[in-house]
Amino acid sequence: MATVAELLQPVEADLDALLADLRSLIGAGHPILQAAAEHLFAAGGKRLRPGIVLLISRAIAPDGDLGPRHRRLAEITEMIHTASLVHDDVVDGAATRRGVDTVHSRFNHRVAVLAGDFLFAQASWHLANLDDLEVVKLLSRVIMDLADGEVKQGLFRYDTGQSFETYLEKSYCKTASLIANSARAAGVLTGLAAQQLDDLYRFGRQLGLAFQVVDDILDFTGSDQQLGKPADRIRRILASGATNCSDACREFSDPCGAQFWRNLRGEAELVERVQAGRGVLCGEDPLDLRADPLTRERGDERGVTAYRSRCR
Ligand code: IPE
Ligand code: IPE
Ligand code: MG
Repeated sequence: MATVAELLQPVEADLDALLADLRSLIGAGHPILQAAAEHLFAAGGKRLRPGIVLLISRAIAPDGDLGPRHRRLAEITEMIHTASLVHDDVVDGAATRRGVDTVHSRFNHRVAVLAGDFLFAQASWHLANLDDLEVVKLLSRVIMDLADGEVKQGLFRYDTGQSFETYLEKSYCKTASLIANSARAAGVLTGLAAQQLDDLYRFGRQLGLAFQVVDDILDFTGSDQQLGKPADRIRRILASGATNCSDACREFSDPCGAQFWRNLRGEAELVERVQAGRGVLCGEDPLDLRADPLTRERGDERGVTAYRSRCR
């Protein structure tokens, strides 16, 4: 299987330039806010989201070249993502991210909340300056979805009875919305037809959902070093409400799963039980659009109508 680095290789040089641009894009603010906002950029993540925007942009460009607006869109995508991580780490009480201290550990909670806001505000400013109302609508919807996703996750925290649908809906808001809408926005900037834009959105949505599911599994199969963040497995599984685990807990008809944890012999058994559970690893096809709550809600098999009415 190809690694992320191999997949992003065609846009590697563009991504290097993007990182430098991002740091200069964070305009003048209070020096502490600026330092806090830069802290995570400097640590450098996988750059998956801007990488996808750049790959798509090159693929659909008539001459294969990247224009300044597509580059700016990729930068905005990474800025929004990084802002969401700064806030998420406060909410989750995480000590490390990208192998370095989280912003609230390095500075403090107040600075982290403000630094996240600062990055969202910067992203909104650069977004507005793209001067494309449709793209502004797509990406500002993402910022709403991110907040919605965190609230949903907070509401279902430690709720072992949450459904797979709820889990998917939360994962859409937290992760898939950004990838789907920025993929579509790349197409909008190129002037693609409606059908192609829908296809880009669907591609990003499926990829985003799969990414979050895999990230949740890695939370209890990966090490601190591999993840660049603490692998505090039990707490993290319950906090993010990984659905298979919920199914395993439900067996014991115990709302907090306390009996489940008492009966559990150890982490290896937990992983075994989760892998044997329903959902991610067996036949239900969790990524099937028909199973998408947003799609079903509006009786549209392809999720496109649902998507359109959400971004108007
Ligand atoms: C982390 O995303 C947040 C999730 C959606 C699970 P990434 O794993 O892409 O984070 P970075 O940007 O590489 O640090
Ligand atoms: C990360 O979510 C933040 C967003 C996707 C907005 P998680 O809490 O599930 O992921 P990690 O483990 O902190 O990266
Ligand atoms: Mg987190």
